[in-house]
Amino acid sequence: MTVKNILETMDYGPAPESASEAMAWLDSKNRQFGHFIDGEFTKPTQDFTSKNPATGEVLAGLSQARPEDVDAAVSAARKAQKSWEKSGHTRAKYLYALARALQKHSRLFAVLETLDNGKPIRESRDIDISLAQRHFYHHAGFAQLMETELPDREPLGVCGQIIPWNFPLLMLAWKIAPALAMGNTVVLKPAEYTSLTALLFAEICDQVGLPKGVVNIITGDGAVGEMITASDVDKLAFTGSTEVGRIIRKATAGSGKALSLELGGKSPYIVFDDADLDSAVEGLVDAIWFNQGQVCCAGSRLLVQEGVANTFYTKLKSRMDGLRIGDPLDKCIDVGAIVDPIQRATIADMVATNDEGETYQTTAPEGCFYPPTLITGLTTSSKLMQEEIFGPVLVSTTFRTPAEAVAMANDTRYGLAATVWTENINLALDVAPKLVSGIVWVNSTNLMDAAAGFGGVRESGFGREGGWEGLSGYSKLKGTPKPAKPVTAFEGKGGLSDPIDRTAKLYIGGKQARPDGGYSRVVYGPKGNALGEVSLANRKDLRNAVEAAHGAKGWSKTTGHLRAQILYYMAENLSARAGEFADRIKTMTGKQGKDEVEGAIQTLFTYAAWADKFDGQVHGVPIRGVALAMKEPVGVIAALCDQRPLAGLVEVIAPAMAMGNRVIAAASEVFPLAATDFIQVLETSDVPAGVVNLLTGDHKDVAQHMGAHMDIDAVWSFSDPSHAATIEAASAGNLKRTLIAPAPASPKAMLEAATEVKNIWVPYGE
Ligand code: NAI
Repeated sequence: MTVKNILETMDYGPAPESASEAMAWLDSKNRQFGHFIDGEFTKPTQDFTSKNPATGEVLAGLSQARPEDVDAAVSAARKAQKSWEKSGHTRAKYLYALARALQKHSRLFAVLETLDNGKPIRESRDIDISLAQRHFYHHAGFAQLMETELPDREPLGVCGQIIPWNFPLLMLAWKIAPALAMGNTVVLKPAEYTSLTALLFAEICDQVGLPKGVVNIITGDGAVGEMITASDVDKLAFTGSTEVGRIIRKATAGSGKALSLELGGKSPYIVFDDADLDSAVEGLVDAIWFNQGQVCCAGSRLLVQEGVANTFYTKLKSRMDGLRIGDPLDKCIDVGAIVDPIQRATIADMVATNDEGETYQTTAPEGCFYPPTLITGLTTSSKLMQEEIFGPVLVSTTFRTPAEAVAMANDTRYGLAATVWTENINLALDVAPKLVSGIVWVNSTNLMDAAAGFGGVRESGFGREGGWEGLSGYSKLKGTPKPAKPVTAFEGKGGLSDPIDRTAKLYIGGKQARPDGGYSRVVYGPKGNALGEVSLANRKDLRNAVEAAHGAKGWSKTTGHLRAQILYYMAENLSARAGEFADRIKTMTGKQGKDEVEGAIQTLFTYAAWADKFDGQVHGVPIRGVALAMKEPVGVIAALCDQRPLAGLVEVIAPAMAMGNRVIAAASEVFPLAATDFIQVLETSDVPAGVVNLLTGDHKDVAQHMGAHMDIDAVWSFSDPSHAATIEAASAGNLKRTLIAPAPASPKAMLEAATEVKNIWVPYGE
C-alpha cells in the first residue's frame, strides 16, 4: 500500500472535545437557573428542562417567566435606560469588555452551545462564538461613533427581543449588541430549547460590571414571548418562524412599538453550467448541511442548469456520502443532532409524505439525528420546493436559461438570501439585482458579518441586522413627532352652481378614471361654498391602481439621473402654475397657499437632488471579498397622505419616485382638490403611466385594503392615527413594511423608507 492509498482510505478517528468545563459550570449552578433581572439571578422555579439533543441527557432545570418577572425585567430596563444612553464612549467600553469576555471564555461558550443545541463543535467554535464576539467588537465601534456620525438619532428606549434556537448565542449578539450600542436597554428571551449560553452571557454581563438593568434575560416558551410582546417595550425584535412573526405583527398593530422581523426562507442556490462545480458542491455543504440545515438563510432550493445537472448530482451524492454525522462534540463531525425530537419528527414527516421526485439519503445514527437528504426532479410548485423544511434536506430542479433560473429563484413567498455560482462575472452581476432577496452570495454561501446587513424582503420579514443599516432599527430621529392637529372638512349645502361637470377623477395608470363605485362628494370652502366634487375610491379602484403600478415596473430599472430629470420637470411645471395652486389652496383652506406651493417645489428639488446620490456602500468584511450594500426600491408603495393639500402629496410621491418605486397615494381627505389639479402636472412632466396613481375619498375606505393587498410592498400612513392599527394588522398577510407617522419625516428618513438594502457578497482581492 502506498502512502497515497493510506491517505485516501484513512478513516477519521474520534476527536472528542471535553465537556467537563461546561458540565462543571452547570454543576456550579446546581443545574438550575432563574432569570437575570436587574443584574441579579432570580430564584429558580424549575419549570422545564434543557436537554442535550444528541444524548437526551437533561442539562439543567429552567424557569418559566411569570407576568411579574416580565414586568420586573421591563421596569429594570426602563430604569437603567436614561443613564445608559448618556455616553457613547461608556457604552463602547462595555461592549468592548463584553467582546473580550466572550473571547476569553470562548471554548466554554462553544461547548455549552454544542451540548445544548446539538450543532457540531467545529461550527460553534469557529462560527457561532467567533461571529458573536465580532458583533460586540464591531458594535463597540458604533457606540463610540454614534454621537458624531448619527447626530440626528437617539435610542428607542427598551427593546424586547425574542430569539430562536438555531444560533442561540449568535442571535443574542445580533440583537443585544446594536441595541446597547445605540443606547437602548433590553429584555431578551432565548428559545426554550436553548437558553444556556444566554444565561452564561448574563453571568458575563455581571462579570464586566455592566450597569444593572441594561441587559435582562428571562426564560420560557412562547407564552413568555407573548407577554414580552404585550409589555411596555418601545421595540420588538424577533427572529423565528414566519407564523409567529405574523402573530407578533398583529399583536403590536397600532401600539406604536417599533418592530423588526427576521423570519423564514427557502433560499435558491443557483448553479450555472460554467460554474466551478466542485466548489459549488462544497458550497452546498455549507449551504444546507451547516447547522443541520436549521438556518433561516440555508440554500435549501438547488437550481442546476440542465446541461451539468447529472454531473453535478453525481458529485454531490459522492460528497454527501463523505459527510460525517454523529456526536456533535467530536471535532471531525460535519452534521450534528437536530435540536429536538419534535423538530426531527417534523422534518421526517415532510420527507416521508412527499411523493414527488427522487430521494437520496445517507445514513444517520439512532436518536435525534437526520441523514443528509437530496430530493431531485421536483417542480417549482412542489410542496417541498415551497415550504421551509428547516432540516438537512436539499430539494432540487433544473433550469435551461438564466432568465428561467431567475424566474424559478423568485417563485417563492420568501426573499431572504440567494446564492449564484458561475465563473462568468457578467452573468453573476446580471442575475444578482434580479433576485428578490435581501442577500446574494456570488461563488460563496452563508457568509455573515457584523459589518454587512442581514435580513430579507417579502415574507422573510423586514429590517436589517448588522452594518450601518442595522442601526436605524435601534434608533429613531431625535425629537418626538408632534401629532397632527385634526382638520375637519368645511361644511356647506348644495352642489355646484356651474352646470359643467367639475368632478375630479382618480388617476390610475396614466389615465383619469371614474371611481368604480360611482360615488363622489362635494368639497366645500370655508364659507360653505361648493368648490368642486371628488371621486370616492373603493377597494376595486385600489386594485386597479396596484395593477397599473405593477405594469410600470420599468420605472424601478431607470437610472437615478432620469428620475431626477423627471422630478425637476415636475417642479418646473408646478412652478409655472404656482399662483393657480396657491389660489386653490386658499379657496380650500382659507389660508394663503403660496408658502406651501414654494415648499412643494423645494421638496421636488430635494428629492431630484437625492435621486442619483442616495448611494449604497461597500462593506469591508473579513473574508476574501466585499459586500456591496445596494439600495433597491421597495416596489409598490401605497400611502395615505396627511391633510396638507399639496405638501402632503408631494412629500410622499417624491421620495418614493426618486428611489424607483411606484406609488398609489390617497390624497388629503379634507382638501383633495390641489392633489387632483396635480394630475395635470404629472401628465405634462413625462411621468410614465402607472408610476404615480392618485386616489381620493375617505381613507378608512382604503386603509384596510392597502394593508391587506398581497401585491403592495409597503404602506405609509400620515393620515389619522386611528388607521394605524387597521393597516398594521392587515399587513401581517404578506408582511409588508409599514411607516406610520403624523407627517413625512426628513428626506434621509423618507429615502430609507423608500429603499431596501440588498447585500451582494462578491469575491474580491487576494
Ligand atoms: P418559533 O418561531 O415558534 O420560535 C422562535 C421564538 O419565538 C422562541 O423563542 C419562542 O419561544 C418564541 N415564540 C413562540 N411563540 C411565540 C409567540 N406567540 N409570541 C412571541 N414569541 C413566541 O419557532 P419554533 O417553533 O421553535 O420552530 C418552528 C419552525 O420555525 C422551524 O421549523 C422553522 O421552520 C422556523 N424557524 C425559523 C427560524 C429562523 O431563523 N428564521 C428560527 C427558528 C425556527
